[in-house]
Amino acid sequence: MRILGIESSCDETAIAIVSGNGDDLVIEKSLIASQAALHAKYGGVVPEVAAREHIDAIFPLLLESGIPRDGSGIDAIAVTSGPGLVPALRVGVELAKTLAWAWGKPLVGVNHLEGHLYSTFKAIEFPALALLVSGGHTEIVLMKDHGIYERVGATRDDAAGEAFDKVAKLLGLGYPGGPAVSRAAENGDPEAIVFPRPMMESGDFDFSFSGLKTAVAVYLRAFEPSNLRPSIPNVCASFQAAVVDVLVTKTMRAVEQFQPKCLILAGGVSANKALRDRLLRDFSPVGTFLVPDLSLTGDNAAMIAAAGYHHALRGDYCDPLTLVADPNMELVENRTPIK
Ligand code: KG4
Ligand code: ZN
Repeated sequence: MRILGIESSCDETAIAIVSGNGDDLVIEKSLIASQAALHAKYGGVVPEVAAREHIDAIFPLLLESGIPRDGSGIDAIAVTSGPGLVPALRVGVELAKTLAWAWGKPLVGVNHLEGHLYSTFKAIEFPALALLVSGGHTEIVLMKDHGIYERVGATRDDAAGEAFDKVAKLLGLGYPGGPAVSRAAENGDPEAIVFPRPMMESGDFDFSFSGLKTAVAVYLRAFEPSNLRPSIPNVCASFQAAVVDVLVTKTMRAVEQFQPKCLILAGGVSANKALRDRLLRDFSPVGTFLVPDLSLTGDNAAMIAAAGYHHALRGDYCDPLTLVADPNMELVENRTPIK
């Protein structure tokens, strides 16, 4: 089965073709047009600007993918229908609906977060536990089977990626902040400054990162902006150590409780080397650690096609005339009690 994937939820326009056979998924094409440099000058993503850029980028990518004009060779279309920025999401959703209708192909509306869960392109053994860390979300998800998820914990305020972005802003490192902070951290001492580990001992699997960002801001008040530069590596390394400590400690406690066969780390923050290394070290004696290739940690359409493939196997399609972009789409509709 060959799936066309379409992604436009934030600041990357992406088109991919993925072919699947049982649990084996192969990326035939994965094309991404990133707007990150454009939004950097605003310090964050501007929805209307993003939408205009998606409109300009999406047809050239579709042509570049080499799909014939009549859609032959494609068995289904998968598109991110939420969560994300509505004007941005709509570009991909409307293209997908139009193609599905014109080509007469089935359509899947994919949750962007579910896409990240499938970004490792490895067979998932169930039950699996996933730590999903992106710019907008921080969640621990128990995957009982394809499409059957329970949210074990989530952030109560800022997402982990958002905390990286905000700390980068405080330090004048630009947007997106995660890569800049982790790069600066490589030359710093993670034990130089003891930042708080919020909610690490809270007894549940929830997170809170806004207090940590405030702790960094308070620490920085002692510095004149002109004196800040030499301290940046230590601030970044110590902040990163606090985030990684909380994420890994709580994830490993969830591992103890839910006994998964594999652990998935996904979302933009999964590019963070310190986080990847710690989870690999701690989880490897327990089971299989799955993490996306660095080319697939950020937003892409291959992961959307991969998630869509599993919906397609179940015949779980939607109506091309009625699919709508849902900015608040939940991965798990209701927080059901875990047995
Ligand atoms: O999944 P993603 O590409 O977009 C969303 O769906 O949000 O995640 C983007 C987030 C940003 O907050 C970015 O700063 C963060 O991922 N990020 C990182 C790293 N690379 C990207 N955070 C920490 N370390 C990194 N190396
Ligand atoms: Zn994402």
